[in-house]
Amino acid sequence: MFKLGVLEEVASEIKTCKKCELWKTRRSTVPGEGGSDAKIMFIGEAPGYWEDIQGKPFVGAAGKLLDRLLTEACLSRDRIFIGNVLKCRPPGNRDPLPSELIACTPYLDKQIQAIKPKIIVTLGNYSTAYLFSKAELKFNGISSLRGKFYKIKLLNLEVTVFPTLHPAAGLYSTRYRQVIIEDFKRLKEWLTVEGLI
Ligand code: URA
Ligand code: SF4
Repeated sequence: MFKLGVLEEVASEIKTCKKCELWKTRRSTVPGEGGSDAKIMFIGEAPGYWEDIQGKPFVGAAGKLLDRLLTEACLSRDRIFIGNVLKCRPPGNRDPLPSELIACTPYLDKQIQAIKPKIIVTLGNYSTAYLFSKAELKFNGISSLRGKFYKIKLLNLEVTVFPTLHPAAGLYSTRYRQVIIEDFKRLKEWLTVEGLI
């Protein structure tokens, strides 16, 4: 009950947030979704067109691919938390600005601290770079870091981070899609060994 309260509080703070310019162009805030008792978090980049309309994470084309990958890994959305580094959509889906990341990431920190996940799957460059910098680890690009498990100390928590490509990358390249599929197989093995699925 306590955990649920914190996540709701964070979501309501986000709803009225004006800490960066993105509040001016957003239609909805997208705080993220999932059980407060989730052991697994998936963190993407920022809401896109459909997420901005619906206020929910990963409901567009990339989300459809993510849903298929989750099913393959024996996961469903009601057992995980899915969110993004930024909680409002950058206009035209442009890359997040450093100033926006600085303004918004305290919300992600609070969500991680409330959930205390066993594993965080970072989808793409931005979430991976953020968690690596937070843990004071060298970030040398998603392509060289992806597909491996990193046991790190983050926000006073011991947590495993598993970076993979952003599902949107898998939409425009078959090769990238294959890479993501392989990574999710590895993830599924890890979750099995850990007794999480
Ligand atoms: N891309 C993201 O990074 N997050 C979403 O929620 C949707 C698309
Ligand atoms: Fe606030 Fe984050 Fe939205 Fe910027 S992106 S207005 S910091 S919730």
